[in-house]
Amino acid sequence: MSVQIIVGAQWGDEGKGKIVDHLSENVDIVARYQGGANAGHTVVIPSKNGKNEQEFVLHLIPSGIFHRHVTCVIGNGVVLDPVALMAEIEQLHRIGIRTEGRLLISHHAHLIMPYHKMLDSVREKGDQKIGTTGRGIGPAYIDKYMRTGIRVVDLLDRDVLCKKLKRNLEQNNELLSKMYNSQELDVDSIISEYQEFDKKVDEYVTDTSAYLNEAIRKKKKILAEGAQGALLDVDHGTYPFVTSSSPTSGGACTGLGIPPTTVDSIIGVVKAYSTRVGNGPFPTELNDETGNRLREFGGEYGATTGRPRRCGWLDLVSLRYSCHVNGIEKIAITKLDVLDNFSEIKVCIGYKRNGKQLTQFPTDVQTLEAVQPIYRFFAGWEAPTSGVRKYRDLPTNARKYIEAVTRVLDTKVWMVSVGARRDQTLIVR
Ligand code: GDP
Ligand code: IMO
Ligand code: MG
Repeated sequence: MSVQIIVGAQWGDEGKGKIVDHLSENVDIVARYQGGANAGHTVVIPSKNGKNEQEFVLHLIPSGIFHRHVTCVIGNGVVLDPVALMAEIEQLHRIGIRTEGRLLISHHAHLIMPYHKMLDSVREKGDQKIGTTGRGIGPAYIDKYMRTGIRVVDLLDRDVLCKKLKRNLEQNNELLSKMYNSQELDVDSIISEYQEFDKKVDEYVTDTSAYLNEAIRKKKKILAEGAQGALLDVDHGTYPFVTSSSPTSGGACTGLGIPPTTVDSIIGVVKAYSTRVGNGPFPTELNDETGNRLREFGGEYGATTGRPRRCGWLDLVSLRYSCHVNGIEKIAITKLDVLDNFSEIKVCIGYKRNGKQLTQFPTDVQTLEAVQPIYRFFAGWEAPTSGVRKYRDLPTNARKYIEAVTRVLDTKVWMVSVGARRDQTLIVR
């Protein structure tokens, strides 16, 4: 068995990009299994002279791309925006990172079309605004499950592409022209724009499921990289305020076409506090000075949309649920350094609703919106941790915080991140 799954355990932006980049040093393949260019995975890489760092935000390409020995796979579960993909490839080439022969794209991944992005914003005009990233994710997954989607393999056959595009554009133009004041999409220009992609994408397209299964037989080490987070999962998250895919670990098998029996371990990435972008319940949200301090110290602004992230204390009720749904055995705690300046840190250990304590994470948003968090208080460590390189050198109060969290979650802490850089990572033995 050789597959490790990396999942975001909260509402996304836990620092998956940093952790996957770090782990990539010792793997052969990194594979994205769901979502699309709604993801923004930040990786900070040392420059050639080793002095300055360069920050890179990946939206579609797996976060292993900066390690030259790693092959990156975009799996069938991903919804692929060819415009975003090409921009990302060009950006990588500009800094000397090659993608040829190192990037494989599933022939079964579905494509994001211009009308998906338009429909995404149309739906956001309704009364139940999700606060999506506007990247066309929901509408593209609708087409997938309606069985009218256009897949990467269709890009490579002009006749099929034209036929499917024409049919979908006719269907969508009625709705779009109503919403966009009769502005119709130009079928011919979209067809010619997308036909261009066949030449550019062709070299990367393959049966990635077959490739991964062969790699598993050859005992290659594979990291499955989740986007978003468990609480944004379409089945297990805070529905309807979720994304339209399955970021939880189960999604890795369907999103890559690999059997569950090949999965070796599941690692949850947990931010030392909580954030959420977009709408939906957030029991520990802090709409006060403390929340502002978390946002400023943590640089909590969306890597994809630039929106300020909502901030709050760590929520162990939702995290325990996330660990169960994902089967998380080990966690990587990120952004511990952001808490360095707090004299007191709170952690939510239960919820109260109508005077009663809830022991389970509620599955409906109405209840979740009405709960009050029950907090346990921790004394802060009030000392810088970003220069610490060994777990035992962390301030005692920081270790107490981490150990209390892992006890409640019944997991092991495996990594602690104290900064965005590669070297700011402590491995816990
Ligand atoms: P992802 O979507 O889960 O990959 O996370 P994002 O990249 O959207 O957001 C995480 C942000 O925190 C990025 O700006 C990272 O560079 C940064 N980051 C990651 N780990 C740490 C850490 O341990 N400390 C600090 N201060 N920043 C971190
Ligand atoms: P990474 O991979 C945080 C949120 C959006 C919105 C909801 C639905 O960087 O952790 P969508 O565009 O997917 O239909 O939006 O999901 N969202 C994310 N929040 N991190 C992400 O990705 C996200 N991707 C989507 O803000 O609330
Ligand atoms: Mg992100």
